[in-house]
Amino acid sequence: MPDTSHIKGLILCGGRGTRLRPLTYTRAKQLIPIANKPALFYVVEDLVQAGIRDIGVVISPETGSEVKEALSAGGTNPWNARFSFILQEEPLGLAHAVKTARPYLEDSPFVMYLGDNLLSGGIAPLVEDFLRSDLHALVLLTPVEDPTRFGVAVVDRRGRVTRLVEKPREPPSNLALVGVYVFHPVVHEVIEDLRPSRRGEYEITDAIQGLLDRGCRVRAHTVRGWWKDTGRPEDLLDANRLLLSHQTGRITGEVVDSEVTGEVVIEEKAKVLRSVVRGPVHVAAGAVIEDSYVGPYTSVGRNALIRSSNVEYSIILDESEVSDLPCRLDAALLGQGVVVRGGGNRPFRHSLRLVLGDRSVVSL
Ligand code: DAU
Repeated sequence: MPDTSHIKGLILCGGRGTRLRPLTYTRAKQLIPIANKPALFYVVEDLVQAGIRDIGVVISPETGSEVKEALSAGGTNPWNARFSFILQEEPLGLAHAVKTARPYLEDSPFVMYLGDNLLSGGIAPLVEDFLRSDLHALVLLTPVEDPTRFGVAVVDRRGRVTRLVEKPREPPSNLALVGVYVFHPVVHEVIEDLRPSRRGEYEITDAIQGLLDRGCRVRAHTVRGWWKDTGRPEDLLDANRLLLSHQTGRITGEVVDSEVTGEVVIEEKAKVLRSVVRGPVHVAAGAVIEDSYVGPYTSVGRNALIRSSNVEYSIILDESEVSDLPCRLDAALLGQGVVVRGGGNRPFRHSLRLVLGDRSVVSL
């Protein structure tokens, strides 16, 4: 493995997260838990696993303190990483975030990782390939159905990137830019000359196009496993499904008069009483499931309660309560401390699909 001591990480946790409202009214989108772990932690793990421990984190004035607190987690820092926090006053684009981080990055090569992106398989091969090469940038691509939502690249037969465009109306290929990029410090020179795009942002895609225009070498890897930009509620649910489908069952909590099948994690001090749980399901510490059915691809947060209800394919955050529902809760995303209660109504056949911000209360 090549020496990684001089390469830095840069995680982008600024931005406004408007597409995930109401959840992002009260929390940073990078901290929404997936399989009961904040999305951002998977990003840190990928960088550390690739040998990168010097990590800059771009934060916003609104959610910066929350991100700092999550990464310091009571001083534990289980990754043994050195975090430097960089305040970006306004979300003026990904290239603007790099410009803001310039004093931290100095003249080191760096891996930029968008804090809301999830990837299976890690980034070590990408980093190793870059360090062994004489490239100015290495990007990660994957074929997508709707390239208009992403940065899009054109690649020649030898894997060289020849053109890039951000969220094109008429995409020149179906290859989307995944939110992980490795850069040579020459990119800072291009960013200095950048102008805002049609949507008013300093685009990293334009910066990479600028590298190409100057004759720099840019290549691409293709994602081997899966990739998720967790920008929308349905993406979070799908990311939860993908992560839970790799999970190995482990029961350290209490299970009484219940049927638990498949890969189910029940953490310590969690209880499953008179219920059916069909994995993959993740039940965090202190949660209680009683007289209920919890079906595949569900994450139940810390100290949450599910009573006399039927829940499937959902993310229930910490301290939420779902009780006496007259129908199934399906593809739901419930924020922290949410209460959804049935009022003893007669059962009905339809399922409920809810996306509720922290501390919402719903009575049915
Ligand atoms: O997810 C992959 C896509 O990410 C790429 O295909 C696009 O080329 C790239 O521009 C980006 O597009 P998004 O529209 O998804 O970016 P978003 O605004 O969601 O920001 C991505 C992350 O960067 C997110 O964690 C917030 C953070 N961010 C964003 C902006 C605009 C910052 O830290 N500062 C910013 O100024």
